[in-house]
Amino acid sequence: MPSVFVKTYGCQMNERDSEAVAAQLIAKGYSLAPDEKQADVVLLNTCSVRDSAEQKALNKMGSLVGQTRKHNPDALLGFLGCMAQSRGQELMDQLPDVDLVLGTQKFHRVGQYLDDLLARRREQVVDIEEEKGSESFIREHLSEEGDKSRAVTAYVSIMQGCNQFCTFCIVPYTRGRERCRSIEGITDECQELVKNGIKEITLLGQIVNSYGKREIGPKDGKSAFVQLIESVHQIDGLERIRFTSPHPKGYGDDLVEAYGRLPKLVENAHLPVQSGSDRMLNLMHRGYTRQRFVDLVGKLRAVCPEMGVGTDIIVGFPGETEEDFEYTLSLCKEVEFDNAFLFKYSRRRDTPAASMPDQLPEKLIEERHARLMELADNIRARKLEDYVGRKMEILIEGRSRRNADRLEGRTRCNKIVVFEGSERFIGQVMEVQIESTTKTTLYGRL
Ligand code: 5AD
Ligand code: SF4
Repeated sequence: MPSVFVKTYGCQMNERDSEAVAAQLIAKGYSLAPDEKQADVVLLNTCSVRDSAEQKALNKMGSLVGQTRKHNPDALLGFLGCMAQSRGQELMDQLPDVDLVLGTQKFHRVGQYLDDLLARRREQVVDIEEEKGSESFIREHLSEEGDKSRAVTAYVSIMQGCNQFCTFCIVPYTRGRERCRSIEGITDECQELVKNGIKEITLLGQIVNSYGKREIGPKDGKSAFVQLIESVHQIDGLERIRFTSPHPKGYGDDLVEAYGRLPKLVENAHLPVQSGSDRMLNLMHRGYTRQRFVDLVGKLRAVCPEMGVGTDIIVGFPGETEEDFEYTLSLCKEVEFDNAFLFKYSRRRDTPAASMPDQLPEKLIEERHARLMELADNIRARKLEDYVGRKMEILIEGRSRRNADRLEGRTRCNKIVVFEGSERFIGQVMEVQIESTTKTTLYGRL
């Protein structure tokens, strides 16, 4: 049987989709190739959220066409996911050597289309149609044989799509409208993962906390998302539950309160704020004000003083003035995010922001990005220093990515801790004494 190499760009949803594709192909008898040169099938699972991600995948495919085909003239090359969805046939026209272009509702069809291409029943395939029920197909995980190390953590996709239509964002166009899986289906998948040794589950969705708003609805004053967390929480042997990414607007009091009540729900919230200026938030169509965001962080920290708060911020949205930008700086100082992902605004075609007046020059965006980066880095480093001398509970995930002689674990509030220890501790929840820190990582002793 052929071997496959899947390369992933973009977010955790894409990582998860790629894993499900790989698991699906392994179940059909494929093997996983160690790199693209040795693969019979190379699939690029793409991201469209910023132009740079699209360019990376396009350049990669350009070089694959030259290189991989030299080693293996019959190799099959495909684009999957968001850029495949938004560009479709155009990708084939641009790169005629590509065999397969499959959109975001077609991941479960990869095997069948590859069969057709390998058997030469079809020359090329482009399929970016909508498919009812496709959100329920992202449920296969890589088994131990497929995985290099025994996994301790897993992602579970609970929904697809987004109805928010933030004016800068291409996701509602690439991922479609919100569709959710059932609480039972998700809980069964989590149960299976825990049976296979998984200790921590991260529930994934574009706006994870609007899960089931329409299809399931509230019960006993609890949103569908809280009902889901409660259901997963009951699984024996599961240690931790995370989720990403929520939308500030969907953070009801029932979810805030759940942190205080459900011990497996860890003290961490990734809350994309995007800007500190109400004028920008309004133009971005975010659906909250700066004050409401600050109040939400306050409520979360009141329930859990240890709450790790992360965010995403866009710098240089059309029309952003120095004053607007300073509101973002002051918000960062006020909230003191533990971790902030800072993005330079990227003009995405067909989004409302792409045709707004006052698109800012690249140089100004870069300048502001650097200023914000310096502030956010300093805040993060200072906050990390507060942990030195403390004891923290960590889940030991495996060998350190930074130093293979050491182990790596994660605190409940999502800080990475590197320390020395035996491999047999992998998968265990233990205490570490934090001894030192760099700008991004804590170092400790078991
Ligand atoms: N330009 C820059 N950043 C963007 N994001 C989404 N769309 C854009 C864009 N057009 C960022 C947002 C979002 C994160 C996943 O990517 O901050 O939260
Ligand atoms: Fe994009 Fe906004 Fe939906 Fe997030 S909430 S995926 S930023 S449209």
